[in-house]
Amino acid sequence: MAHQSENAKKLNIVVKRIKDFREIPEPSIDDSDVWLLALPFGRHVSDAEKSDEWFKCLYEFASKLGPNSLLAILTTAEDAAATWPKISKIMRFQLWIALKLDTPISSSDQCLPQHHASLLILSKYRSSLKHAKTRIAYTYCPACEKTTKDYGGKKHVYHEYGTLMSDIWRDISWSPDHESKEVEDRLADLFGIDQHRNLNVYYIFDDCRLQPDRGSSLLVKKASDDMIKRRTDKHQKSCLIKGDCIEALRKMPENTVDFCFADPPYNIDKRYDHYDDSLDIIEYFNWCDRWISELARVLKPGRTCAVLNIPQWSIRHFKHLCNVLDFQNWIVWEGLSLPVRMIMPAHYSIICFTKGRARKLPYAELKRKTDFDKQAVYTLKEGFCLRPNCIDRRITRNISDRQLVTDMWWDIHRLKHNCHRADHPCQLPPALMRRLISIFTQPDEIVLDPFNGVGTTSLCADGMGRRYIGIELSDQYNNIALSRHKMLEQGKDPFAKNGDIPKAKNSRVKRIGNYSYEVPKKALQLEVREIARKLGRLPNRDDVEKNSKYPIRYFDDYFVSWAEVCAAARTTGMKESKSEDNQLSLF
Ligand SMILES: C[S@@+](CC[C@H](N)C(=O)[O-])C[C@H]1O[C@@H](n2cnc3c(N)ncnc32)[C@H](O)[C@@H]1O
Repeated sequence: MAHQSENAKKLNIVVKRIKDFREIPEPSIDDSDVWLLALPFGRHVSDAEKSDEWFKCLYEFASKLGPNSLLAILTTAEDAAATWPKISKIMRFQLWIALKLDTPISSSDQCLPQHHASLLILSKYRSSLKHAKTRIAYTYCPACEKTTKDYGGKKHVYHEYGTLMSDIWRDISWSPDHESKEVEDRLADLFGIDQHRNLNVYYIFDDCRLQPDRGSSLLVKKASDDMIKRRTDKHQKSCLIKGDCIEALRKMPENTVDFCFADPPYNIDKRYDHYDDSLDIIEYFNWCDRWISELARVLKPGRTCAVLNIPQWSIRHFKHLCNVLDFQNWIVWEGLSLPVRMIMPAHYSIICFTKGRARKLPYAELKRKTDFDKQAVYTLKEGFCLRPNCIDRRITRNISDRQLVTDMWWDIHRLKHNCHRADHPCQLPPALMRRLISIFTQPDEIVLDPFNGVGTTSLCADGMGRRYIGIELSDQYNNIALSRHKMLEQGKDPFAKNGDIPKAKNSRVKRIGNYSYEVPKKALQLEVREIARKLGRLPNRDDVEKNSKYPIRYFDDYFVSWAEVCAAARTTGMKESKSEDNQLSLF
């Protein structure tokens, strides 16, 4: 078994296959079960009437669920996004899990192969999700036999059994239209807590595909080939615009941009230079709808508009984007974060829509691509690690570790090290932008980013021979972007390591001022583990003050919380190599 749930009392699993969703039985009012409904997957039968009937049926079912029950819906990302708003008044959104598919589904050259399903977890209760603490066993790179994740100097704070579960499941996979014992077992363990007894699983094999709602008045006219007045964009020059994106976009002509990419503020209270990142949520979405509509207007027919956000907000963007453009792909990007919660939020959604019929995606024409573009669209095969020395050795030994990109990405880290960051709280890794630009554009085409920050998008576009339009509200960030473009002009790499320590934070916790620690943090955490072992419990500050050979001020000054002081004491530590002697199996 690839996971281990602490203190779980495995739920009793009851599985049914049904032909029609009307066969799902009524739950009883005191029901406190967990329900998994697996919907038909990937059959493009648009039947609005049947869709409406399903939503009605689901609403009635959900309203009858007992106050302690949970509902999990397993389906395509777009169907999950269309379903959630239908029951959002009576169920609380808890989690959006991306589950890998056994085999990617390729439907055409106009979109990326589909490589994941969505598992939407909703509860009847309003509090946060209750579940057993679950760990996923480490996986090991077949080349160097070290863990697929590089834990660097932090091995002492990880658990020997595995890492805490995240919201992206790649250690198990699902084959749509088949039952999945692995998913059932995981849910039965994860929710094996006192308040639930049964996991009721319904696999629905119907031929109905859901239809998302379309707004009554379309904000942007859908483009069709004959209604488009083709504009010539030969004279559009690359530029950075300092200002509000909605105002700047309104001045741009329609149908002129080849790729719109938006990485907006996520409304999670990040400390930006100029912008309040904690709006009332309705106000936030109304604002998002306005710039999305503008992006749809300036986008050329057949081209792509991609919006990045956390999954929960992407569901709402999806609703509005369906009003103004046509769905193309739901990309899942695993940002590889450290465990911060019992189920770590580890992924972002990049939802892609086109105007009218999508063109054949430029990445599909690999013959016309430069080597740089080609590299960007070959991703790491499942199982290989990202350690630079292992990658180098794989190249010299001709080990095939790459595959053509799908809509599930796990090989691009978020920017973690300060030496790669400019002074901005949340900039994207250039590898992510290079991949998107390679997939969706050809050289010389126009890439637009309305939230250009310190220029990751415009710099990548520039470096890859595309024209760019970058809009940014803050003077400070825009100036950083301008100076980085100058570096590019002078033949320097704007993303190269630098010695500067950025002042802006990429997390909410306070930055420790002192960078030259008198004792390494790891030594302090290991000492706390030793004290915990002697006491038979986690030590508090007084215990550490009494028992540690180091002054208490180190613990006060070097860590952001007591939880971090005790991080190694709460776990067992782990080894990065599969075998003790680590004889490289493929090398
Ligand atoms: C998530 S960050 C984007 C970071 C960017 N992807 C990068 O790698 O540098 C969002 C950016 O949007 C900017 N912003 C916020 N409101 C804006 C507005 N109305 N118009 C233009 N930019 C805005 C913020 O200043 C911030 O730099």
